[in-house]
Amino acid sequence: MMRRNIGLNPSLAELAAYEKLGAFYLGGMHVDEVGETAPVPYLYDSKDLVTHALCVGMTGSGKTGLCISLLEEAALDGVPAIVIDPKGDLGNLLLTFPDLAPDDFEPWVDPEAARREGLSVAEYAASQAELWKKGLARWNQDGERIRRLRAAADFRIYTPGSSAGLPVSVLASFAAPPPALAADDDLLRERVATTVSSLLGLVGIDADPVKSREHILLSLLFDDAWRAGRDLDLAALIQSVQQPPVTQVGVMPLDTFYPADDRFELAMALNNLLASPGFASWLDGEPLDVGRMLHAEDGRPRVAIFSIAHLSDAERMFFVSLLLNQTLGWVRSQSGSGSLRALVYMDEVFGFLPPVAEPPSKRPLLTLLKQGRAFGVGTVLATQNPVDLDYKALANIGTWFLGRMQTERDKERLLDGLLGASGSSGLDRGEIDRLLSALGKRVFLAHNVHEEAPVVFHTRWAMSYLAGPLSRDQIKKLTRLTAGTEAGEPAQPAAAAPPSPPVTATPPPLPGAAPAAKAATNATPAARPVLPPEVPQTFVAPADGSATTYAPHALGFARVHFVDDKRGVQHSEDLALLAPLAAPADPDWHNAQEAAFDPEHDLHDTPPAPPAGFVEPPPGLDGKAIRDWEKALSDALYRDRRLELLTAEEVELTARPGEGEGEFRGRIAHALRELRDEEVEKLRTRYAKRIDTQQGRVERAEDKVEREEAQASARKGQAWVSAGSSILGALLGRKKLSATNVRRAGSVLSGFQRSSKEEADVEQAEEALVREREELEELEAEMQQEVAELAAEYDAQTLELGTVTVKPRRADVDVRRLVLAWVAE
Ligand SMILES: Nc1ncnc2c1ncn2[C@@H]1O[C@H](COP(=O)(O)OP(=O)(O)OP(=O)(O)O)[C@@H](O)[C@H]1O
Ligand SMILES: [Mg+2]
Repeated sequence: MMRRNIGLNPSLAELAAYEKLGAFYLGGMHVDEVGETAPVPYLYDSKDLVTHALCVGMTGSGKTGLCISLLEEAALDGVPAIVIDPKGDLGNLLLTFPDLAPDDFEPWVDPEAARREGLSVAEYAASQAELWKKGLARWNQDGERIRRLRAAADFRIYTPGSSAGLPVSVLASFAAPPPALAADDDLLRERVATTVSSLLGLVGIDADPVKSREHILLSLLFDDAWRAGRDLDLAALIQSVQQPPVTQVGVMPLDTFYPADDRFELAMALNNLLASPGFASWLDGEPLDVGRMLHAEDGRPRVAIFSIAHLSDAERMFFVSLLLNQTLGWVRSQSGSGSLRALVYMDEVFGFLPPVAEPPSKRPLLTLLKQGRAFGVGTVLATQNPVDLDYKALANIGTWFLGRMQTERDKERLLDGLLGASGSSGLDRGEIDRLLSALGKRVFLAHNVHEEAPVVFHTRWAMSYLAGPLSRDQIKKLTRLTAGTEAGEPAQPAAAAPPSPPVTATPPPLPGAAPAAKAATNATPAARPVLPPEVPQTFVAPADGSATTYAPHALGFARVHFVDDKRGVQHSEDLALLAPLAAPADPDWHNAQEAAFDPEHDLHDTPPAPPAGFVEPPPGLDGKAIRDWEKALSDALYRDRRLELLTAEEVELTARPGEGEGEFRGRIAHALRELRDEEVEKLRTRYAKRIDTQQGRVERAEDKVEREEAQASARKGQAWVSAGSSILGALLGRKKLSATNVRRAGSVLSGFQRSSKEEADVEQAEEALVREREELEELEAEMQQEVAELAAEYDAQTLELGTVTVKPRRADVDVRRLVLAWVAE
């Protein structure tokens, strides 16, 4: 039979429109009978990823390549991702070269591979560049698509515990979780258990959560602190281990359960960790704050790659558990959604989600799989063998990408896993077995619970250069490169010091309690000035505890509420304002400094450091003066305090206080995606029927041609290529792409030999077919037009932001206490 390699149908322009519509271009339908890939793209509906995906296959089967393509598609569609990379391959996502020039490839090619091929590194780079160019072209992709990918998202490599890439501070992981999570008993317990297990693992204590004293005590400490909304850090934890705030464990006194001497040992172990030179690198860098990390400051989605290849097993487990915990906390703070909001991808999940053992990473991963769906967060896992995974996890997975397996036994186990997990969902073991046995490299069987039947597809060429695991130096280089050129953002964004809510008309907050302006320079009596008893007084500690002069200030504590029911704004600010006292007893609240001190620790009834003297307060300070201060402060706050928030009127969203623009734009993008997904669904139903009908007509016309042909030339069993196989058809519903259709599409008959007397009949049938096809093409063009309009309408990049200013009402200003504060100078 003659075959023609038709290439893939979708034009680049079509792809550009589609990637904005949540259809991920992952490859092309594979037809084993024909032995080549049919001209029908394999498109994956991004919404289906909210029920997660698993990618299984032997080493070299193309799992990572497939998942990199999937992440590329997600990035193009504005979906951010947390990527956990135990092997070091995922950093390849940063190797994207729109010009596909040999020079671009040269620093990243494997010199060893060059040597093996007897080429210089430069020659080898040129051959790799050529390979990539051709590979992409075969899959109808080009440098422009790579350029779009680079522009669509911000790609970063984080290296916890190392400064090769961007460092990450795990300190935030010990901070009290957000209220939504703390209020959920199960989640809080889970988070406590995971944190404690991973921390103990790092110290080298393999603790049973139920039996081990260490685990029980640390869990109590975390639980106690987090329920009270208190942050912990290692230093505080060590302190608490020695002097715990709890006295009972169950019915037992703490000292019987875990005597002080033994606790000291645990404290020492934790202290050694804290003091070890390597540990400092865990505390440097951007805080592990998933909400912030998922978006660049300009709102573009981020693909945050956490490279952990350089870590020891215990360190990996420690970090992955903390990261998953943080991710879970973030997921829980999102609104429910059926559209894909973000992806969590883990390459080589082996050991992190095992069937029987309970490593600290397992609980949060299972919870992500169980709960992510409701929030639109999809998890994608890759592994060489499904027996590596807990069956409860498998049961929660909606899409299986099954690759080639090493041995017959592995294949049988894979089948067991798949059929066991998907219950009686109508999968035919024999058929799947047959398909699996025939899989080649980069060919996968996709079983998606949202689709009618499994399909076999060949993965498309990855846009990223798949150079393999990156070395430490390469990561360093990439990080330097991207920090300099991409997005104009510094490598470590302002996120290290989260922006405070934009509040206007107040001077910048004072770090600590030191006053910026000095009070009137009266003489400095050595003795404390005598004031009427109705004037409350307090002392603010000097930074270093040395002898000092104290100057009088007015210190007011207040709470201001900002309420805007229409926008759902409910925010209060607690303030401590420190105003220098100018004569006569009239603090200047408009120029007051905001003091960031803790009334419990930083304020004292008596001078905390030996006074060297006191600045004399202005005369006439009495109870009435204090009441006047109160009134004046209330007036000043009412007049000056404002809460300014970003808004996006089109999607009726208002930023939350403290939410950065990047994160807010991320939420907007998601709201738009939800609207778009709805519209796409409508478009589908609107066109599906019409295209179906027309496709039926085309098929009948094809049959007719075939019959006439058969009569004419007595040739049987040859099929015409089905025209309705464009990318539009694929988006509409893949049920049209039955194996028969695809086979038809792949096998093209050419070169008829017909007898002249029947020519007329054949021609007539062919003309009819041409007409029906034109009709179908018109219909598709019409739909394509609508698709393009839709894509433009929901483009988050073009949306302009506004601001809204929320003023407090009179009753929303609550001045709580005023005191005369002696501030160390
Ligand atoms: N989509 C793709 N485009 C181009 N090349 C690919 C693609 N997928 C795989 N390859 C090639 O095949 C090689 C092996 O594929 P890949 O690394 O994805 O296998 P894997 O299944 O992840 O194996 P392992 O289990 O060892 O990690 C890659 O290094 C690359 O050269
Ligand atoms: Mg791999």
